[in-house]
Amino acid sequence: MFRNENVIIFKAKGDFMIQKPRGTQDLFLNNSKEWNAVEEKFRKVLNVFNYGEIITPMFESKELFVRGVGDSSDIVSKEMYEFTDRKGREYVLRPEGTAPTVRAIIENKLYIQENLPYKTFYIGPIFRYERPQAGRYRQFNQLGVETFGIDSISHDVELISLGQSFLNELKINNDIVVEINYLISGDERKTYEAELKKYLSSFTDLCSDCQTRINKNVLRVLDCKIDGNKFTDAPKMFEFASQENNDRLNKTFIQLKELGIETQINFNLVRGLDYYTGLVFEFKNVKTDQAIIAGGSYNNLVEELGGPSLPASGFAIGIERIMMILKDQNIKVSDEDELDLFIIPLSDEAQFLTNKLLLEARSANLKVDTNWNIKNLKAGFKSAERMNAKNIVIVGENSINSDNYAIKDQISGETTEVKFNDIVKYLKGKK
Ligand code: HAM
Repeated sequence: MFRNENVIIFKAKGDFMIQKPRGTQDLFLNNSKEWNAVEEKFRKVLNVFNYGEIITPMFESKELFVRGVGDSSDIVSKEMYEFTDRKGREYVLRPEGTAPTVRAIIENKLYIQENLPYKTFYIGPIFRYERPQAGRYRQFNQLGVETFGIDSISHDVELISLGQSFLNELKINNDIVVEINYLISGDERKTYEAELKKYLSSFTDLCSDCQTRINKNVLRVLDCKIDGNKFTDAPKMFEFASQENNDRLNKTFIQLKELGIETQINFNLVRGLDYYTGLVFEFKNVKTDQAIIAGGSYNNLVEELGGPSLPASGFAIGIERIMMILKDQNIKVSDEDELDLFIIPLSDEAQFLTNKLLLEARSANLKVDTNWNIKNLKAGFKSAERMNAKNIVIVGENSINSDNYAIKDQISGETTEVKFNDIVKYLKGKK
């Protein structure tokens, strides 16, 4: 430990330094501020779309995800942070937010008729043991949206327009494409899967993930990051879909276009979670080829997890990926951070008066601060500058004795003399 002018510096002992877990982040200063601003914008948009918040535990029974997300998904097969508690119960840190929301809907009987359609959102950390890289973390955060009890083209369109409204609110206008597809189901899907397997059997050099997926969930082979682009001649899903499904996809596309939301139909978009049943979509960052918003319909999940038959759909947004794009496009979401007043106390008595003034000003909703370590004017002005103060006042022997406090406006450079008891009123008047 050593002193540097007014600051005490603690020197880290390198050999004792404990680092954050791989694939996690510390957020502070401007990053945590931007983070909160993004969250705030999300809440604002969700409020005008008339959604209410749901808060569920950070860990859940392992079984929820094995049954909910599906054991052929990467999430369940290799990415869950699992642990056993002292009583031998198997839990996981939640690897996504949809299955927990569905569990809560069923457990709390939120599906009763008068609650429907039930529209809810969540915000919170998600844990996946993935290989960390830019935009891919082991602890990341999702802003999620789920709706229960509605299944219609209009709703599909509204859901995608909600994702778009959030990006608009953040002023993210570039480098995003919205891809949509409609997953086939039932007998049509079985026929298609059989054809796809036949087609894939001619490939002898597929990656190990593809080889596993051929048997577990063959559709996923199509969006394999390693081999996906080899399958250009693969049978196309829409050729096996009913006229009704294809019409629905086309109508969704057209209605979104008429609302000014350009989408692209991608017949190979299948998503990595097993619960999707109809519409699937992704808002992708074209520069990184990563999805920042992703979701779709999952009309069987509520029933599969023990609830009634209830259509559902939703999406989740990765906050880290939003932060990346904001940084890349130089967009600042949070408000300018300014102090209404910085107080420089120059004696013990001045420190006492400063506390009095701080309390009064803060109760009046003014953002004010001081630095108790400063011992002279020079250090005081430096602190004020660092904290972006709009006004500065010095509390010293002269001002205390005369009850004349010179408040310096940092922008105009002007100084105004004010009595101690009038400082808060004066600052409020300037706002
Ligand atoms: P997901 O595609 O697995 O879907 O994740 C949704 C979003 O979370 C992604 O688009 C991405 O922005 C972010 N994300 C995923 N993995 C990571 C990671 N390792 N690091 C940083 N960000 C990541 C779901 O989780 C579904 N529950 C979405 C949903 C809601 N479907 C219906 N309702």
